[in-house]
Amino acid sequence: MTHPLRIGVAGLGTVGASVLKLVQRRANDLAATAGRAVRVTAVSARDRRRDRGVDLSGYQWFDDPAALAAANDIDCVVELIGGDEGPARQTVETALSSGKHVVTANKALLAKHGVALARMAEDRNVALAFEASAAGGVPVVKTLREALAGNVVTRVSGILNGTCNYILSRMELEGLTFDECLKDAQRLGFAEADPTFDVGGFDTAHKLAVLTSLAFGVKIDADAIHVEGISSITPLDLKMADELGYRIKLLGVAERTAAGVEQRVHPTMAAKSSSIAQVMGVLNAVTIDADAVRSVTLIGPGAGGDPTASAVLSDIADVARGLHGAPFGKPVDLLDDPARAPMQRHEGGYYVRLTVVDRPGSMAKIATRMGDHQISLESILQKGKGPRGGDGATVPVILITHATSEAAIRAALDEAQGDGVVTEPPQVIRIER
Ligand code: HSE
Repeated sequence: MTHPLRIGVAGLGTVGASVLKLVQRRANDLAATAGRAVRVTAVSARDRRRDRGVDLSGYQWFDDPAALAAANDIDCVVELIGGDEGPARQTVETALSSGKHVVTANKALLAKHGVALARMAEDRNVALAFEASAAGGVPVVKTLREALAGNVVTRVSGILNGTCNYILSRMELEGLTFDECLKDAQRLGFAEADPTFDVGGFDTAHKLAVLTSLAFGVKIDADAIHVEGISSITPLDLKMADELGYRIKLLGVAERTAAGVEQRVHPTMAAKSSSIAQVMGVLNAVTIDADAVRSVTLIGPGAGGDPTASAVLSDIADVARGLHGAPFGKPVDLLDDPARAPMQRHEGGYYVRLTVVDRPGSMAKIATRMGDHQISLESILQKGKGPRGGDGATVPVILITHATSEAAIRAALDEAQGDGVVTEPPQVIRIER
């Protein structure tokens, strides 16, 4: 019988503690499917004494995760530290360079160093497995790399951050402010240690970078992603979206366009009838459009201990069975370096909320600027009105445009602001039809 797979877990936060419990719970089935025992033998974390609800006495303890990664009696390192540099990078590089398999949930590390790390894994013929890095418990990495290998993928889009979806859902359903909802997300433990990673759109961007590489067979290019977060979304935007038949979702979208690969993360008006708009709370969803299968949507928990541990276990099971190929599907040398489609070339409909000076002629000026840039308006809504006779009073005005380009909308809005009829930076939300 093959010797047991000896695992070292580096990082014992919510996910790490769940991984220890799940490996214990599933030990018999893992052994049966892999034909060998699977055991966690060593762990590393910052604070040995913290109560994690799991007995650590049976594991060898390392204060330094890189020392765990270098230890001779470990076959596979599970990196759950997080961060794109420092201990996480050192741990993964040490493990790979000493010929150990690596399982990681670290999307930030992959977004920044994924190409170099994949090359290290390929050179040493070991696994670099990262099912847990995108959409938590939703098995989207293997779906793209393995289950859809017979397809040309044209578009990947989805809700990839549970914190943002939770905040937007509660703002919509309960009329709460952004700040009130963010505090609850932190209390419930699914926001990142630094919540600006979540609400600023960067966590979504890291996950999108991983999915783009797998979907299109290209090198990870996280710097090419246009990123906007959700902190500027107001209860009024959510109310207007509802009246207009939309829900606001933070989407990550990657698609092949004539100008190259477009990658973008931003709040989006999604039609209420679309499947993505039904996904509420901490859930994630990913839609993959491809030639043969047409369209597949996966929905499930994108954050939290057990769901993320579920994804980690699927990678551990592969390592135990000896299943590993090129981390991004194709060997690194065969991954393309595609052109970046600039955001200014993006085309679609737009929701624009303007704070407009309430006096005759204001709307005419704005409409003229839109017309100058060939932007066709589908509807104009004015909400409320300023105090009677008040000089300098403003009103919120909502414009919905037909399809136009990002460059046109930005130019028209810059000019409208220059005309002095718009008093605050416009709120611009792209519409996905
Ligand atoms: N903080 C992330 C989220 C989970 O809210 O989706 C881990 O990626």
